[in-house]
Amino acid sequence: MKTLYFITSNKGKVREATEKLRTLGFSVVQKDLGYPEVQADSLEEVAQQGIEHVRAKFHQAFMLEDAGLFIDALQGFPGVYSKYVFFTIGLPGILRLLQGVENRKAVFRSVYAYSEPGKKPVIVTGECKGMISNEQRGEHGFGYDPLFIPKGAEKTFGEMTIEEKNQFSHRAKALEKLITELNTLS
Ligand code: IMP
Repeated sequence: MKTLYFITSNKGKVREATEKLRTLGFSVVQKDLGYPEVQADSLEEVAQQGIEHVRAKFHQAFMLEDAGLFIDALQGFPGVYSKYVFFTIGLPGILRLLQGVENRKAVFRSVYAYSEPGKKPVIVTGECKGMISNEQRGEHGFGYDPLFIPKGAEKTFGEMTIEEKNQFSHRAKALEKLITELNTLS
């Protein structure tokens, strides 16, 4: 098994990555080093800035990830502001903004960035299309999971096990791409 350091404070992300990468021969070790999530227009930019910050103090290979929920009827909001919005208006606030709105389409996007000392970082993306439910459903997962029904499913992410969520999720797709990239690098 190869070890991958995952720079994050989010245990939910670590659980998902551990489950996904276990089958691919990697063990994930969480490092909660913290890095500033800069105000930026894209997830890629946030991830790139995160890489530069962590590289300055952590001199081993690591990965980090930035994700966001982009809602069609809200012109992509909360998007890069997903974290802030989650901790301010939260899920009830999102439901209020969408009250009476017929178009419930949304997409989750994930950007994984992998860094090795002295090498150019690898950046990959994954997305999962779906709909915002009319009410919160499910106790699993984290963040916006109780509101998001991926395309092709009836349950919200909040009603799914990690294995089920990984069959659809933006993060699982990005991780698969990252592993392909890492395998070609080594
Ligand atoms: P970040 O990648 O930790 O900055 O995530 C931004 C916000 O989106 C946080 O509030 C997360 O809880 C939320 N988020 C990211 N990925 C997911 C997911 O897979 N499900 C639900 N919420 C998520």
